[in-house]
Amino acid sequence: MAENLMEKIVSLCKRRGFIFQSSDIYGGLSNTWDYGPYGVELKNNLKRAWWNSVVYQRDDIFGMDAAILMHPKVWEASGHLKNFNDPFVKCPACLQFFKFDKIWDEIWISPWLTSLRETMTGDKDSSYLLRWAKGEGKKLSPNLNLVKEPEVTVSWLADLHHKFGGVDLDFKNFVGRISCSRDGVARIPCPNCGNQLPEQSMSANLMLETLFGPVKETAQKVYLRPETAQGMFVNFLNILDSKHPKLPFGLAQIGKAFRNEITPGNFTFRTREFEQMEIEYFVRPEDAEKKLAEWIDYRFQWYLALGLKKDNLRLRPHGKDELAHYALACTDIEYNFPFGWSELEGIANRTDFDLRQHAKASGKDLQYFDDAAKTRFYPYIIEPSGGVDRGLLAFLADAYHEEKVREDMRVVLKLNKDLAPVKVAVLPLLRNRPEIVSLAKKIAADLKRSFVTVYDDTGAIGKLYRRQDEVGTLYCVTIDVQSLEDKQVTVRERDTMQQERIGIDRLKEYLDNKLNS
Ligand code: GAP
Repeated sequence: MAENLMEKIVSLCKRRGFIFQSSDIYGGLSNTWDYGPYGVELKNNLKRAWWNSVVYQRDDIFGMDAAILMHPKVWEASGHLKNFNDPFVKCPACLQFFKFDKIWDEIWISPWLTSLRETMTGDKDSSYLLRWAKGEGKKLSPNLNLVKEPEVTVSWLADLHHKFGGVDLDFKNFVGRISCSRDGVARIPCPNCGNQLPEQSMSANLMLETLFGPVKETAQKVYLRPETAQGMFVNFLNILDSKHPKLPFGLAQIGKAFRNEITPGNFTFRTREFEQMEIEYFVRPEDAEKKLAEWIDYRFQWYLALGLKKDNLRLRPHGKDELAHYALACTDIEYNFPFGWSELEGIANRTDFDLRQHAKASGKDLQYFDDAAKTRFYPYIIEPSGGVDRGLLAFLADAYHEEKVREDMRVVLKLNKDLAPVKVAVLPLLRNRPEIVSLAKKIAADLKRSFVTVYDDTGAIGKLYRRQDEVGTLYCVTIDVQSLEDKQVTVRERDTMQQERIGIDRLKEYLDNKLNS
């Protein structure tokens, strides 16, 4: 059902002009996406809502827009050149890549283990395994040892008397054993084809490189930034000198980031080019823990206020072993995506790591001077860092509804009014009546001055309503024959589908109350 939802969203995005495969006419560039007419509106609305919440509604945060390309020394100092690696393994049989720290999660949800788990509910003996190996197993994981040499593998399981689906250790033990070949050594199987994976992981730096300068021989190697954050750290001094802020204060920026991800996928969830919305909030070191908690709550409430269902959101503090090289603590806001719970935004305590590193590498004094106490120190940094594309995907998934209306199925995107790409659609009931069309066009032109409004007369009214529902348009204004006489129009609300007759002279005020209150 959930995977089905993902397919429906991808299909709606293409059909209605939200998101297209990049370079589609050339067969597409994998995991790269272009935002179409509704997608760009939704994306801009999401970014505007974020900017409004973190810059305009606060007195302690300044906006910024730093360059994507930065001095290569930035990435030495930040530790990205040394530490921004993702250990991975490549299956020698099917050539697929897997992040090393996610292999067991991938195996758990793989089609072959899912099928095997279904077969193995309860205490079953090895005959079930053999039957599975010769049937479903052959189709789903042809390279799994249980499938290639069932009798050999089952012999390694002979002493195994346990219920499958228990604690992690049992699961790993079991999976290791069904991957054993004649040497009897437990191995990790490929989540895709079941083949034994290499025991050693490889490591790749995730930074994308490019050449800065027109002549290849003399051009300088630079990097496409993997996070927008560094553009704010290297401007810390400029902000101190130009704005003279008092702690705590922050910088906010929205911009593109690039990573050579090992396993991009799940539509726009993990891509190599994406957009981030990041805040670097500078605090006194002794206040860092409290401010981290405040930011976690502030950002969580923002997602709720913009309409994500509470049941689909949760907080997940990081374990010490999964913290980035610069972080002392981090909590993810996770969303229940159609493919499972995953990170939407991370809120980290980066300590004074970045300022110290850049001070050391640049030779500039990046300490904060406390006027009252006459002391200098490096502030700590609290960093709420969210993804625009991931956010947009979460809002789409949350807003997607299918409803039965009489005999029809209505697909409606119940997006929050601040996010909906189109606020009003003006629809003439009869497109072959010039007086109706002309009045409708005049009303649309008037409304366009105040709201994002579209005019559409390319179908029967039922079809036009469905089309607007699918893109989440909040109000449909219909002009009919009676409108010519009583100077009233029908306004239909998206979620309830309730209709009201409103005087044309009151229409703008009516919509203004609904949309801007
Ligand atoms: N400056 C901290 C930082 O970059 P991160 O957890 O690596 O932290 C922050 O990234 C956010 O950026 C993530 O929570 C996610 O929303 C988004 N993000 C990261 N990698 C992404 C990718 N490959 N594709 C789409 N969004 C991504």
